[in-house]
Amino acid sequence: MTDKQLIVLTVNGEEHELLVEPRWTLLDVLRHNVGLTGTHVGCEHGVCGACTILVDGEPVRACLMYAVQAEGCAIRTVEDLGTPEEPNDLQQAFSEHHGLQCGFCTPGFLMLAEGFLAQEPSPTRDEIRETVSSNLCRCTGYQTIVDAIEATAAKRAAESARKEDAVR
Ligand code: FES
Ligand code: FES
Repeated sequence: MTDKQLIVLTVNGEEHELLVEPRWTLLDVLRHNVGLTGTHVGCEHGVCGACTILVDGEPVRACLMYAVQAEGCAIRTVEDLGTPEEPNDLQQAFSEHHGLQCGFCTPGFLMLAEGFLAQEPSPTRDEIRETVSSNLCRCTGYQTIVDAIEATAAKRAAESARKEDAVR
């Protein structure tokens, strides 16, 4: 039997002390040990993107990272975005633009888009298309996902312009 290791993971701003085997993926530890099942399991080998989370702000496939590698990093999962009662603007846009159908891929797309928009707040439609091409969706045909991300970028840009005007 493999020896377990005590690690501390910071997930959505909270620290979790966890006893894990070095071979356990971050995906499995988030779901089974931390209890956050919003991050979905698809292919488990880095192809589908359903398990995308943010590690230090970067979109990462949680099935390709060991939990022990994530010590000391700031991990964000879909649970950090909003709640069913109070979705964040990106989740709201996915709903309004019909960017989800079965929803299995949605947590991965949301975290991919959240990380992308933080790095590129004013993307072109082609840049959004290029970014979402890394994740698989079998339902939507992608256009509605692109629409939702584009709308969120526009809304955030308008809000930050409004805030800048207010402080002048
Ligand atoms: S489950 Fe991680 S990329 Fe498919
Ligand atoms: S909404 Fe079903 S796989 Fe994307």
